[in-house]
Amino acid sequence: MSLMQKHAILEKNSLLLLIGILIVIAIGGLVEIVPLFYLKSTIEKVDGMRPYTPLELAGRNIYVREGCYNCHSQMIRPLRDEVERYGHYSLAAESMYDRPFQWGSKRTGPDLARVGGKYSDEWHRAHLNEPRSVVPGTVMPAYPWLARTELDYAHIADDLKVQSVLGVPYSVEMVTSAKADVAAQANADESVSTDLLKRYPKTQARDFDGDPKALTEADALIAYLQVLGTLVDFKLYNDKANIR
Ligand code: HEC
Repeated sequence: MSLMQKHAILEKNSLLLLIGILIVIAIGGLVEIVPLFYLKSTIEKVDGMRPYTPLELAGRNIYVREGCYNCHSQMIRPLRDEVERYGHYSLAAESMYDRPFQWGSKRTGPDLARVGGKYSDEWHRAHLNEPRSVVPGTVMPAYPWLARTELDYAHIADDLKVQSVLGVPYSVEMVTSAKADVAAQANADESVSTDLLKRYPKTQARDFDGDPKALTEADALIAYLQVLGTLVDFKLYNDKANIR
């Protein structure tokens, strides 16, 4: 009996075919699932990643509160058109401290995973206040209250604590100095606190909202936007991971 004839037995008997399908799918499933039980972590370690500073975390909370994720993703897929437009595709490690993650599923606006450093703070201020003042015809809504509203960070230490319960490695020291760190990062007058830099390497500290007298929600949100995608030095990884 040829192989085709043997296979015809399966094709003519639906119960046998069903059992055959189940066996084949089970093998495929096992090959995919079993190795996961033997891996310590599915996230490859990447140099440069650190938890958000308290100010960046406060900005992230505003990003979530305002629903920016409804129009913006933070996940660059490893496809040529995305990599050419936005930069290196997103690594798992880059969102390992994002609780909840902001990958998003809708792109009415562009992906923001690497928007940090792309524009000046001044551009962000103008854009958040009235997007059409810098991008005529954009459908992005205006958020003029951010620059007018003082940042409420009375509970920022609790925020860090909750994040640490969820697995973000905030130390006790980071929690106790959280409030001071918010002010230190957003205060342009003082030189960058070395303690802040020790706790959070590569932190950009300055007056993000252009008003040195006030610590506003715009300070926090712009600090968050300016850090996105800037922590990993891709010169170190490009040789290994470049798909181009
Ligand atoms: C209704 C959909 C919508 C919402 C909601 C929205 N945006 Fe946008 N956003 C856009 C569109 C469209 C653009 C592209 C045109 C432009 O630059 O305004 C954009 C552009 C941007 C850019 C510039 C990106 C780049 O690479 O040029 C940033 C930064 C940004 N948005 C931040 C935000 C933030 C922060 C929020 C929440 C406070 C937000 N957006 C909410 C639609 C939206």
